[in-house]
Parts: sequence; structure tokens; C-alpha cells
Amino acid sequence: MEKRGSFGSRFGTIAAVGGSVIGLGNIWRFPYVAGENGGAAFMLIYLIISLLISIPIMLSEFAIGRSTRSNPMRAFSRLAPGTPWKGVGYTGILCAFVILSFYCVIAGWALEFLGDSALNRFAGLTPGQIAGNFDTFVASGWRPILWTLVFIGATAFIILSGIEKGIERYNKILMPVLFLLLAGMAANAMTLDGAREGIAFLLRPDFGKITAKTVLEALGQSFFSMSLGMGCMITYGSYLRKNENVLRIGGMVALSDITVAVLSGLAIFPAVFSFGISPTSGPELVFVTLPNVFARMTGGYFLSILFFFLLFLAAITSSVSLMEVIVAYLSEEFPVGRKRAVALTAGTVAVTGSLCALSMIPSSALTVGGMNLFDLCDALSSNVMMPLGGLLIVLFAGWVLSPAKLRRELTGGMRYGTKVYPLVRFLIRFVIPVLILLLFLNRTGVL
Ligand code: PFF
Repeated sequence: MEKRGSFGSRFGTIAAVGGSVIGLGNIWRFPYVAGENGGAAFMLIYLIISLLISIPIMLSEFAIGRSTRSNPMRAFSRLAPGTPWKGVGYTGILCAFVILSFYCVIAGWALEFLGDSALNRFAGLTPGQIAGNFDTFVASGWRPILWTLVFIGATAFIILSGIEKGIERYNKILMPVLFLLLAGMAANAMTLDGAREGIAFLLRPDFGKITAKTVLEALGQSFFSMSLGMGCMITYGSYLRKNENVLRIGGMVALSDITVAVLSGLAIFPAVFSFGISPTSGPELVFVTLPNVFARMTGGYFLSILFFFLLFLAAITSSVSLMEVIVAYLSEEFPVGRKRAVALTAGTVAVTGSLCALSMIPSSALTVGGMNLFDLCDALSSNVMMPLGGLLIVLFAGWVLSPAKLRRELTGGMRYGTKVYPLVRFLIRFVIPVLILLLFLNRTGVL
């Protein structure tokens, strides 16, 4: 077993956890899922869920990880030896594979678009031509695969350069830049013709549109966006120093995550309506919308390069954390060493990722029950595996982990957060499990 690293500073910790949390989930997935689920009503539920459900789950994961300082599997078997709880760790690893498989494809799209931006390929194109170019790119098959593989290689490279140097160094500087750029893009979007309609779509809820499906989609989106329910935050929690205030870190990370998602919604929906694109376009929404914005904006050439570069970086800091879940497990539980663990993981994801990319070609045979492999991995992870994992994690933190340990981890031995702790514990023990369970029972037709 190799010695475990630890994050070097508070800012480094927030940057690293933030790097995992902020990614394609905020900028690519949030707008497309919000668009498919009615816009503002979805966003409202997403906000409530993020504050009430996701933050306590993140704290539970930190508590489990930090108290054991080990990978999810071992964390569960240390805290509840000889019980099936370590199964939560195994499903987490599986979930990391499922997510990586489609995540790398989208990150690959960002790389293609980075290249297109640099070559100024969007200039002067109509919205129809931009959408057509996208379709041709996806249908080519080999180009998306090539970029997927490049991205997986880059992720593996960062992991091999070590925890602190690899993850923290890149995140510290670049995430704030991304934040500013998105804010600028949102401000610019307000000036587009027809922006009002887009803003109303995102901010004026139609409560009639809320169904159990909307709620489950919002839950899944929030978990995906905050990297929850699959052991990622347990793994990162295990690198947290003992004197770190986890309540503050959880709160700050969650708040930045939500802000980035809302900002990208504000940057994208006015443009969606302004350019006559359908909000229900699905996974391609951001990629067929933003090039139109850049093509018509002063400085659009440079801004588009900057945007897709930062999107790529946001994606890679998240994919590093996904791969880290698997690598930490393999290298700590088997005598393979980090290098070989990384090679094994990257090799497997290269195959599954390429299959996901191929499944997006129209009329591809890579479908299951009418859904292509890409959509299946996306829906399976966010709407089934992560909510289920989240449910089991809060049940574990609330009912199996000793109350003294939970309290010690979340309040630093009574040094902070003693006022909010009872509320967090109540949410963890009662409110969250009941809500997720009801949602599942409803979606599976039992209720
Ligand atoms: N939270 C990441 C995003 O929003 O892009 C995706 C993600 C990373 C999910 C790590 C799960 C995970 F463990």
C-alpha cells in the first residue's frame, strides 16, 4: 500500500474539491437537463435539493472519508466490519466507470470545439450551419473517438503527477477565471434579441410542470454536479486534513457549484431563444448554442478559445477525481502500484468511452431498450446509481456511524458548527432518506 497524500492548504482543498465538483455537469449538463424539464420549475427544485439534500450528503461523505483516511471500500469495511456496507464502495467504483465513459466523450467535444474556435470556423455561420457541423462531427465516429482518447490520456497524465501537484496547481488559478468568463457571458447574453424569453424560461416557474420525474431529474443533476453518491467525496474526504472545517468547505463548494450552474443557464438560455434553438435539444444544447453567440460577439474569436479551453480544464479536474476513485481503490487494495492502476483504468475507459461515442451516431446499433449507450450511461448514473448511493451513504452516516464520530468529524470536536449540527444530523437521519425513498418508490411505480 502506498502512503496517502493530503491536501496542502485550505485554499488548495477548496480548489481541489471545487475542481471535482465544477465541471461539465454545471456547464453542459445543467442547461440541457433544465431545458428538457421545464426550465424554471426544474431550477427551483434543483436549488432546494442542493441546499437541503446535497450539502448534508457531501458532509456525510467527508465524515466517512476523513474518519478512516481510506478509499470508500475500506472506509465502509473499517467502520462496519463484516457487513455488506462495503458494497456501497463497489457500486461507487462502477458508477465512476459509467460516468467516465460518457464524460470523456463530452470533454472530447470541448476539445474539438477548442480547435474549431482557434481556426475561426464558426465565423459567419448561420445557426442552421452550426447545428449541421455538429451533426457531421458526431456522425464521423472517428473524430469524437480521437478526442475522447486524447482526453483520457490527459487525465491519466495528471493523475500520475500526484495528488497535490497534479490537482491543486491547475485548479487554483483557473476556476476563478472560468467563473468570471461565465459571468461576462451571462451579462452579454442579456443584450441579445429575445433574451427576455430565455430569462423567463429559466426564472419564471410554471408549477404545473413539476412531476416526480422532474424532482428525480433535479436530484440526479444535483448529485452529479456535486460529485455525490459514489464515493468521490469519500475519497477526497480522506485527503482532508484533520483541522479542516468541513462544514465551511461543504458550504463554499456547494455555493460555487450552484452559482456556476445558474450562471451557465443565464449565459445559455437567452441565446437558445434568441437563435431559435429548441431548449429540449438534449446533450448537444450547449454545443449548438454557444458558437452562435461567439460568432456574433465582439472579441468572440478569443473568447470562444478561452471558453472551450476552460471548459476542457473544468472537465479534466472532474475526470481526474472520477479516475482517482478507481485508482485509489486499485492501488490500495491490490499490489499493482499507481502507475499500473492508472493504465488499467484508462485502458478500460478508452474502450467504454469509444463505444459511447460511437453510439451517438444516428442509427447506431449500440442501443439498449431504445436508448443509445451514451444516454443510458448518463441516465443510469445520475438517476439511479447516484441517488441510490446517496441514500445508502446518509443511512450509513446517520444510523451506522457512531454519533460521536459523526459529531467529531462535522464539528471538529466542537470547535465549529455546533449550532447547525443538530439540523444537519436531522436532515441526514430522517428527512433525506425518506425523501429519496419516496421518490424511488414513486418512480418505480410502487407508490
Ligand atoms: N461533478 C462533476 C461535474 O459537475 O462535471 C462530475 C462528477 C465528478 C461526478 C466526479 C461524479 C464524480 F465523482
